Amino acid sequence: MTDELPALLTEARTRITEAETLEQLRALDAELLGKRSRLATAKARLGSLEPEARREAGRGLNEARQEVERELAERRQALEALARGTRLEAERLDLTEIVPRRRRGHLHLVTQARDRLEDVFIGMGFTVADGPEAETDWYNFGALNFPPGHPARNMYDTLYLEVGEPETVLLRTHTSPTQIRVMEAGEPPIYSVMPGRCYRQDTADASHLPNFHQIEGLVVDRGITFGDLAGTLDTFTSAYFGPGITTRLRPSYFPFTEPSAEFDITCTFCKGDGCASCGRTGWLELGGCGMVHPNVFASVGYDPEAWSGFAFGFGIDRMTAQRSGVADLRDLVTNDIRFLEQF
Ligand code: DAH
Repeated sequence: MTDELPALLTEARTRITEAETLEQLRALDAELLGKRSRLATAKARLGSLEPEARREAGRGLNEARQEVERELAERRQALEALARGTRLEAERLDLTEIVPRRRRGHLHLVTQARDRLEDVFIGMGFTVADGPEAETDWYNFGALNFPPGHPARNMYDTLYLEVGEPETVLLRTHTSPTQIRVMEAGEPPIYSVMPGRCYRQDTADASHLPNFHQIEGLVVDRGITFGDLAGTLDTFTSAYFGPGITTRLRPSYFPFTEPSAEFDITCTFCKGDGCASCGRTGWLELGGCGMVHPNVFASVGYDPEAWSGFAFGFGIDRMTAQRSGVADLRDLVTNDIRFLEQF
């Protein structure tokens, strides 16, 4: 009776390993160990043996049964783990499938322009400085040689803040007050640009915004001349706008520079031939500039005999709009994504 046990065990092992589902394994369990199994019927026949042989055969059968039970339990564990894995996989939420495919955002057109301007000036050896948007009358006007009541104050439609005495605190009308702050914060030599937001009491239209951006430049060193100013503007212009774009200076007036000038650049559309964008002149107006006025040096305690310098400033929004073919400045601030994503 026990002779057939090794073969029975071998067969049982093979079939257990071949069971692919828990259901198959359950059926196999009944077949191998159940009442009508070969092990069960063999056990039933033990009674017909001599006591000695019965004990021997009984032990063999028990061992075989335990072995089959162990094999079944092992396989059950493996199949259960497999089933759990399959279930988890099926229940997993693939969230990537329900996220709509979106285009990534990018910096605003004006911010891109400001960053590029900074890059070009940094490449020329300038540092970048920053100042507050709410300023005092002193920084915005007084220190820049606009005494109280000076007619040039009327060029700026100033927005005053209701802080302190009337008309002492305002939203800066230009980035020039940052020149004063940069000079106060250190000693020459200074080679600095100062970009930022400015405010004027203007009604928004296609070519004006009450809130706009300027970039200011300031150089203070020994022996700085008007030639250095002209050369710096020219170098910047071709670095920023590309080869073939140069500058010209026209006499002008600003209280904080003497002499003062306005600077134009070669029209970027017609390259100087004259077109509708430049009013057939071949030039586009960009900003103001000049040699730092001695009174401005006096405001910050610099000795005008020891130092000289130049300054310039121009609007970023209008320049960028022109370059990108934006006809109405208001489009820059209404935040219509269909407009913004073009740039
Ligand atoms: N601050 C002037 C404005 O907003 C522009 C300007 C002119 C800046 C001459 C300068 C300068 O630094 O030298 O109208």
